[in-house]
Amino acid sequence: MLLWFSAPLAGEQIYGAKTPARDGIGKTYLGREISQVMGHLGAGWLERSDRERVERTDLLLSSLPVDDTSIVADIGAGTGYFSLRLANRVGYLYAVDIQQEMLDIMDARIAASGISNVETVLGTETSPGLQANSVDLIFLVDAYHEFSYPFEMGRAMVEALKPGGQLVLIEYRAEDRRVPIKRLHKMSEAQVVKEMTALGLAFEYNDNVLPQQHFLVFAKSSLEETNTRGD
Ligand SMILES: C[S@@+](CC[C@H](N)C(=O)[O-])C[C@H]1O[C@@H](n2cnc3c(N)ncnc32)[C@H](O)[C@@H]1O
Repeated sequence: MLLWFSAPLAGEQIYGAKTPARDGIGKTYLGREISQVMGHLGAGWLERSDRERVERTDLLLSSLPVDDTSIVADIGAGTGYFSLRLANRVGYLYAVDIQQEMLDIMDARIAASGISNVETVLGTETSPGLQANSVDLIFLVDAYHEFSYPFEMGRAMVEALKPGGQLVLIEYRAEDRRVPIKRLHKMSEAQVVKEMTALGLAFEYNDNVLPQQHFLVFAKSSLEETNTRGD
């Protein structure tokens, strides 16, 4: 059987508990308190008009390692801010979220724009609902810190990646106090690397191209086809 997450986590108590911080759920994972989920009533904030200028979302999109054959999954896609802007540069894109209200907004935008290569997927707290070994790139913008089951989601994301596939994780820099975002909605590079390497992903680089966020790139081993038969 192929092991694609690090052995020390298996069999251990993965999650802990604490008094919730103002923006937290009181559940910890590898020393980090998980944040609350941003509800669909915050959808307008994701589409704010100054987002490209302040966060350089244009640079984020142009830095993603994709081409017109790439099968991509945007996990925690929200209103589809990134999915819809990326669609014309990739082969096919799965836009995954756990809030049907977010996907309804996205579906309306997809229908209005005539885009034909984006599919919305209603995931669960523990799985993005993607097939094993099916995507070249997973990217997560400002979403991973909200995952209430990061270990289970992480395993399912690794499973969905093709051998040699990449995962790009964008999170506001916890190391920079000037970034005006609530504490648990930011992550340090060291914490992200700790959590991704615990899943068996290899850290490739931090692109450092964005003014407020990390751009962290990880890869699944090219030898590592996920065994879905369980033998
Ligand atoms: C702050 S929003 C970011 C949306 C989008 N990535 C963006 O930057 O515009 C985080 C999104 O992650 C979603 N989310 C939280 N937990 C999730 C999970 N386990 N699986 C998929 N999506 C999740 C939330 O529903 C929310 O829409």
